[in-house]
Amino acid sequence: MVRPKGSEGHRASERMRLQKYLARAGLASRRACETIIVEGRVSVNGEVVTALGTKVGPTDEVRVDGEVVEPLAQQMTLMLHKPAGYVTTMDDPQGRPCVAELVPLSEHPSLYPIGRLDADTTGLLLFTTDGELGHGLLHPSHHVDKTYLAMVEGDPDPVALDRLRAGVELEDGMTAPASVELLDGAAREEAVAAIGDGPQASGNGRRHGGKRSRDALASGASYVRVRIHEGRKRQVRRMFEAIGHPVIALHRASFGPLVLGGTVRGEWRELTVDEVAALRRASGTDGSA
Ligand code: URA
Repeated sequence: MVRPKGSEGHRASERMRLQKYLARAGLASRRACETIIVEGRVSVNGEVVTALGTKVGPTDEVRVDGEVVEPLAQQMTLMLHKPAGYVTTMDDPQGRPCVAELVPLSEHPSLYPIGRLDADTTGLLLFTTDGELGHGLLHPSHHVDKTYLAMVEGDPDPVALDRLRAGVELEDGMTAPASVELLDGAAREEAVAAIGDGPQASGNGRRHGGKRSRDALASGASYVRVRIHEGRKRQVRRMFEAIGHPVIALHRASFGPLVLGGTVRGEWRELTVDEVAALRRASGTDGSA
């Protein structure tokens, strides 16, 4: 839970074009922010600015329609090693444990999760205050890969795995081709360690997984690495259900260029400047598009 040297907060002290600043603050896409500027709705230090080349920095007061835009110097992007038992929401009306409890919200109130993991899924969950980055990473056109380790019931045969590779029919349509690998040897051991106690793993002492999962554990399970770029609801679980090998436990090991690595379960760390730059490239928000 440290802010490493060279973290995003340091980089955010740069001066940048006004439309980029507004997009990063989460106002809208860069293109839409250009329109907002040209319409005369933006002021910098009390002066209305309509020129798109205007540069602003952390000491400038930027307002849109009279409302102050949160300074980018406080911007933050982090990875959380999500434990099982937490819902991906910043506020749960049902009072369930939620990921908001695990990240530094009081320091960075505009942090939000980039996508979601099911309550029972563990692993890499990114958070950011940077609306443009979050939006870019989730946009389907950017095809950002996510890698999952799945502990599944039974022993999927090559034909079943090929179905996942080619794409399977789900109720919301065919899945895109996936990279799928049945793990054995050292890779399987690594997956076992990453998934931990499987359906019993929980950050709050609660138990997960029903009788069927425990029976499957007793009779032997398989470990599969799956890489997909789509992000449909419960997609990996539904893909394995479609081939008759339900998921017992699921863990996200990587998101785009980032791997979870040694981040301890239940803890977060701020991304380095290089990691944020890699995410920007993956999401098409590095200005090269
Ligand atoms: N796919 C799922 O089924 N669940 C997750 O949490 C993430 C991907």
